[in-house]
Amino acid sequence: MCGIVGYIGSKRATDILVGGLKRLEYRGYDSAGLAILHEGELKLRKVLGKLRVMEQSVEEEPIEGTVGIGHTRWATHGRPSVRNAHPHTDSSGRIALVHNGIIENYVELKTELQAEGVEFVSDTDTEVIAHLVGKYYKGDIAAAVREACARLEGAYAIAVVCRDEPDRLVAARLFSPLIVGLGDGENFIGSDIPAILDRTRDVYILDDGDMAILTREGIELCRVTGEPVRHEVYHVDWDAGAAEKGGYKHFMLKEINEQPTAFRNAMRGRIREGSSEIELPELSLTDEQLLGFRRGFVTACGTAYYAGLVGKFLLENLARLPVDSDLASEYRYRNPIIHKDQLTITVSQSGETADTLAALRMAREQGSHTLSIVNAVGSSIARDSDDVLYINAGPEIGVASTKAYSCQSLVLAMFALHMAKVRKTISKERYAQLVDELKQLPDKAQRILDDVSRIQEASAKYGQYNNFLYLGRGANLPSAYEGALKLKEISYIHAEGYAAGEMKHGPIALIEPACPTVAPAVRGAVYEKIVSNLQEVRARDGQIIAVAFEGDTDIERHADFVLRVPECDELLSPILVALPLQLFAYYCADARGCDVDQPRNLAKSVTVE
Ligand code: F6R
Repeated sequence: MCGIVGYIGSKRATDILVGGLKRLEYRGYDSAGLAILHEGELKLRKVLGKLRVMEQSVEEEPIEGTVGIGHTRWATHGRPSVRNAHPHTDSSGRIALVHNGIIENYVELKTELQAEGVEFVSDTDTEVIAHLVGKYYKGDIAAAVREACARLEGAYAIAVVCRDEPDRLVAARLFSPLIVGLGDGENFIGSDIPAILDRTRDVYILDDGDMAILTREGIELCRVTGEPVRHEVYHVDWDAGAAEKGGYKHFMLKEINEQPTAFRNAMRGRIREGSSEIELPELSLTDEQLLGFRRGFVTACGTAYYAGLVGKFLLENLARLPVDSDLASEYRYRNPIIHKDQLTITVSQSGETADTLAALRMAREQGSHTLSIVNAVGSSIARDSDDVLYINAGPEIGVASTKAYSCQSLVLAMFALHMAKVRKTISKERYAQLVDELKQLPDKAQRILDDVSRIQEASAKYGQYNNFLYLGRGANLPSAYEGALKLKEISYIHAEGYAAGEMKHGPIALIEPACPTVAPAVRGAVYEKIVSNLQEVRARDGQIIAVAFEGDTDIERHADFVLRVPECDELLSPILVALPLQLFAYYCADARGCDVDQPRNLAKSVTVE
């Protein structure tokens, strides 16, 4: 977790660093800090709380200087406090360092350093790196960082400045993301691209084990072991404005509303104008390989996992591939049986989720072909997979995942159709029909967004309750899980997602008027089944909010409130059903005055276990 930024140039560093940190705040936000070099001095500023506290601090008491590093923290070792906030310094006070990641051998290193007389002032693992760099410093900060990195086990992205070398900034990474931005007479580092996008569009995406030495005039790239490396410059062609709120009250609302565009972008180049074919040219998987897989396995975390479950349902139904699934945090530790003829699919918005990355690496090491469905370009999961399908949803800043979920489901639907075609498990007519349905999704999503008054009404009517049950079946079981997760994480209302058929085996005991039930009930294979589950809820005085197709008047008899989505094939309906469920959660949370974009205790990118 945590976000880091760095700047070397001729402008006031604090303006650039605080701006960058604001765009990284989604990575963590319990404290923040800056270290600035100015006229032979190293100036530190640390605050507890969100970035606006830091903004206020530098406004009231500006810090001069044109070289510096910054950090926004999400605590892992040591509770949130000014003492534990980064940057951390060495004992001499000339070296300052920011870090994202976890140092696994920090206890040993700390003991060693303490035995040498070093005094620690924080409870963090990061402070050992600062002292190690200090220990090895003999007038060359890059050499000292190199030596220190050789001692570290775990994950890090670090940026380091030294008072005695005011014209250099050093950065390095291992298993935590880091990019370098190229400017004119100035250069930048950041945990990800949006951090520096208002300053430059040309970046290097560093690999694990890379190091960058930045001056105002240039960037030297090398391995932490010393050998030089070359990277292509990646030119960012998406808009900086895309990372801003664009007039919406919250990023989450903006991102929900971006879904029609995001769907078009996810299909762009994959389903051409006037064509009924899905093309996935970026896949290295040959038809022979697609035919050879005997099983699939989906693994991910949180919302991304639920999108993976949508994919599992589609792959089984369309490509007739038996697909199993597990949460990445379970899968990686349960010594699973991984067959060579297994296609392992990981799903991730950030591409940096530690458990998903570890599960992916494990599957790959054991000979499984890995495919990842990812949003963040150049992220660790994308780079470590045999194949990657980017969802092209654009930056997602709101902590609660919305457009990434629906786009992950959409890309998985395209992949399932592609595989079904190769495996000849789908008729030409059914394939063409579903491709046609995919093409209609952006307009149908727009229809939902054009009139949200019923959803607002529902949240006004039911949003005061403290317990909700979300029931789903078949293709929309993941929708129930995801709807419940959305509600609980942003509104702090307790909500459980459950398979409707399991009701009688326990959860039915929860039903009472003050525990409303939300249920996707779209016409299709299990429509009658879910309707009969709703009757069971009704018979016990439960209130029901159903999500149903436009034109389904029967559902009115079984529900107290109906939210509508345009009719589509049942298999693709989770993609549309997600929207009213996201909006329902959003309006409930907003009415309760919750911090929708940064819910308590959460961070956008979970790069630690
Ligand atoms: C919930 C949410 C999380 C993420 C999960 C995985 O709204 O966003 O549950 O889905 O932390 O993150 P990624 O997709 O970045 O791997």
